[in-house]
Amino acid sequence: MPDYLLAIDQGTTSSRAMIFDEHCRPLQTAQQEFAQHFPQDGWVEHDPEDIWQSVVSVVRNALQQAGLAATDICGIGITNQRETTLVWNAETGQAIYPAIVWQDRRTAAYCDQLREQGHEALISERTGLLIDPYFSATKLRWILDQVPGARQQAEQGQLRFGTVDSFLLWRLTGGRVHRTDATNASRTLLFNIHTQQWDQQLLELMDIPASLLPEVLDNTAEFGHTDPSLFGAPIPVAAMAGDQQAALVGQACFSPGSVKSTYGTGCFMVMNTGDTPVRSAHRLLTTVAYRLDGKPTYALEGSIFVAGAAIQWLRDGLRLISHADETEALAEQVGDQSGVYLVPAFTGLGAPYWDPKARGAILGLTRDTGIAEIVTAGLQSVCFQTRDLLEAMQADGNMAITSLRVDGGMVVNNWMVQALANTLGVAVERPRITETTALGAACLAGLQRGLFGSLQELAGHWGRERSFAPLMPEQRRLQLYQGWLDAVRRVRGT
Ligand code: G3P
Repeated sequence: MPDYLLAIDQGTTSSRAMIFDEHCRPLQTAQQEFAQHFPQDGWVEHDPEDIWQSVVSVVRNALQQAGLAATDICGIGITNQRETTLVWNAETGQAIYPAIVWQDRRTAAYCDQLREQGHEALISERTGLLIDPYFSATKLRWILDQVPGARQQAEQGQLRFGTVDSFLLWRLTGGRVHRTDATNASRTLLFNIHTQQWDQQLLELMDIPASLLPEVLDNTAEFGHTDPSLFGAPIPVAAMAGDQQAALVGQACFSPGSVKSTYGTGCFMVMNTGDTPVRSAHRLLTTVAYRLDGKPTYALEGSIFVAGAAIQWLRDGLRLISHADETEALAEQVGDQSGVYLVPAFTGLGAPYWDPKARGAILGLTRDTGIAEIVTAGLQSVCFQTRDLLEAMQADGNMAITSLRVDGGMVVNNWMVQALANTLGVAVERPRITETTALGAACLAGLQRGLFGSLQELAGHWGRERSFAPLMPEQRRLQLYQGWLDAVRRVRGT
């Protein structure tokens, strides 16, 4: 049997294909960025063809660069930006509207309406989520209501809805398979995380025809085979998982209480809570961590919309830097004492504030504030937001979190990871492989294909590269964080 694994990681700003060997060692990576569209304040869209074309091309490139053929791949694991919503025609496979990205806030008014009508308790109880434009359902409803003829076509069974995993699976299988997995389903606001089924009452409440929805499988399953015309031979799609859940697997957070935080476009802190769906009293989300053999494992999640995206904005929007890797040296010059705070509420604030109307600000400017101070404040904003989540998670779990596993593009920045440990007051652990999202997807595919026997075996592949201990006096830590809380208060006008 072939024993290479292929992870397709379809993220918010780029698509990536990574090939791993049977010991989960990365062999080859191909990556392609694609355009972000911001048609109005608070709107964020992707061209579905950009998503699709970039995925096909990175898979082909990775195979070619590794000198492998499709027949050498034992299984594909798909992992993806979650919540991003697509609707396509079942006959043609063409999307009827651009993908509405998870960051998009256009449905804020409808969310207010649902809340005012008193639906939040029911929705939260069933889905583990809150009413916020972040999740897929209100975006899906918007497409059905705003695209001419869409609702009628949906009622006639001509359309399909999916998050990015489903859309890719549909295209990869040549339009034969309409499926998703329990982790992606758990982000739609339509999935009952207790019964593990689409919730009829919520479908009615939000006026969503059930015929649009994909079948929900475990994270490891026989999802289908790629169409042979794409890569030269059919490859089994053996796993699918939302990117944050895949990262939890890649970080081997399999025991209750273990926590990871991923720094990509946004930042997502996820804590495994075992077979108990813990309800948050601090506006965190209850979500499916993974589902294997029909058995769900749950997680608590804190979601921040802007982490790496703040650095991208400093680079592409303000043009203060040319490359993200310049930030480390600039921050080393400045240190953490400048008093400048950047609140990157470009698309509102996520957990624990959930304020879609907040907008960003830079505060504490003086005559000697320069590029280095603003860039440093950008890095610090990621640390402070992580502390917001950590506080909420500790309070919910009624326990002290003593270490945090981190991953994602930003954590190559040593200054930022040390600042994170200082801000949190806990040890921050960086693994040998920081591309844990792709790793997790590949591991799940390997589990399904029988390359690995169990999660315990996978945990054996996790290795620490470096541990960062907090090096800041408690009083200073508190003082800096108070400054952040004050800055957040000001952008919210509360
Ligand atoms: O919930 C959104 C999340 O899945 C996006 O992840 O890595 O693209 O920031 P990322």
